[in-house]
Amino acid sequence: MSILKIARMGHPVLLDQAKPINPSDIASNADLQKLIGDMIETLNDAGGVGLAAPQVYAGQRVILAKAPQLSGSDEDKMGVTVLINPELEFIGPDKDLGWEGCLSIPGLRGAVPRARKLIYRGYDPAGQSVEAEAQGFFARILQHEVDHLDGILYPMRMTDFRYFGFDEELARLEREAASGAEGQAE
Ligand code: NI
Repeated sequence: MSILKIARMGHPVLLDQAKPINPSDIASNADLQKLIGDMIETLNDAGGVGLAAPQVYAGQRVILAKAPQLSGSDEDKMGVTVLINPELEFIGPDKDLGWEGCLSIPGLRGAVPRARKLIYRGYDPAGQSVEAEAQGFFARILQHEVDHLDGILYPMRMTDFRYFGFDEELARLEREAASGAEGQAE
């Protein structure tokens, strides 16, 4: 396995529509299996929570999403969900505004409205069909990654650009807000 280069915003590969994979080929496709292994290694190396194939210059409908496993929420216990040809069906009208970053947009963060709850369908790396429910942060990651397959980056989903900025600056604001709250408590 190897660590792959991650495309950054501005590269046209991130705006392309990724192509579906024939489900009957998934298990026997050595190139696809290698891509999935390399994507997992790349994601772990980069320290992200999700990755889509177009981010590593592969125009195929493959995404990774890290979800806290039932055993605990420590980052090292987060399992990687691999989904091929993912499809999302939103449950209900509720949306949440939440912070997102992207390995293709390093150093920045933005608040993005996303559906709170959804059903995801697709195939696992063994070619088995998958259907499950997701909500909260995991549902957010899935929406972010599926968007990558359709050439959509999270800033294109933003509705209020006041909540868009550099990680370091936003961290400063959070620290100031935290110390302000402490001051009020005293
Ligand atoms: Ni991303």
